[in-house]
Amino acid sequence: MQNASTMKTILVAFLLCVVCSVLVSTAAVQLKSRQVENKKLDIKKNLLLATKLITNNATRDDINEAFKNIETKIVNLETGEIVTDINPENFDAVKASKDPKSNVLIPSSKDKAGIKKRSKLEKIYYVKDNGAITQVVLPVNGKGLWSTLYGFMALSPDTTTVLGLGFYQHGETPGLGGEVDNPKWKAQWAGKLAFDNNWKPVLKVIKGSVNSGNTDASHQVDGLSGATITSNGVTGLVRYWLGDHGFGPFLAKFRASVEAGGSL
Ligand SMILES: Cc1cc2nc3c(=O)[nH]c(=O)nc-3n(C[C@H](O)[C@H](O)[C@H](O)COP(=O)(O)O)c2cc1C
Repeated sequence: MQNASTMKTILVAFLLCVVCSVLVSTAAVQLKSRQVENKKLDIKKNLLLATKLITNNATRDDINEAFKNIETKIVNLETGEIVTDINPENFDAVKASKDPKSNVLIPSSKDKAGIKKRSKLEKIYYVKDNGAITQVVLPVNGKGLWSTLYGFMALSPDTTTVLGLGFYQHGETPGLGGEVDNPKWKAQWAGKLAFDNNWKPVLKVIKGSVNSGNTDASHQVDGLSGATITSNGVTGLVRYWLGDHGFGPFLAKFRASVEAGGSL
């Protein structure tokens, strides 16, 4: 009797384990596509937040509606040319950055973002209003303290006035480096100037608060307190992606085409 009841306990526990694992794996498989879709939606939302086309409480419909104003292109970073023979829908730059066939190593002297390699091609996004480009949005990424931060920077068509910056993925500490998500901190980026007069990227997350009387104030953003490493990481990634190894060649071509009255 004693033995029989021990066996029964083990059997019940075993069956319970089997049933639970089947339930968990079925749920994981069935929810996978929804998870992927939600992640894509979150990336779109963060892109649109950088452009200010939506607010934080936007619904799925608001996001999809606002995204109709976005035109996605693929850029060859080395030449700055738009690539037309690849459908942006099927292109994933993060994946491409990990594949030796589609990535390039970043010389350490240029690697301000601390990412070691990047895709040869990147997506860029135009915000369009009645056919006219009103914003250019660039994907950016780079190392903080614990993680790689992934986000978007929106620029006005002069390519130097920042309209917004935000991150959709990072693993920095909430309350410290995680304050990159704080709307008050993010709001400071709007209106800052990304380049100096020689088109050198000069934005900087400083230590402490920006003194508005300072001549460099238009290039500076307040530091994240207790998170100098993340702050420096943001400076580095912004400067890398705006620089000559990042979107610099594309931005130069874009400016030239705007000056000539066209658009890339
Ligand atoms: C548990 C823990 C989490 C931390 N998270 C971050 C972080 O996310 N980003 C960061 O820059 N510093 C973080 N720090 C602090 C760094 O170790 C370092 O002290 C800090 O970046 C220096 O910035 P400060 O000069 O502004 O104090 C963390 C420290 C601890 C103990």
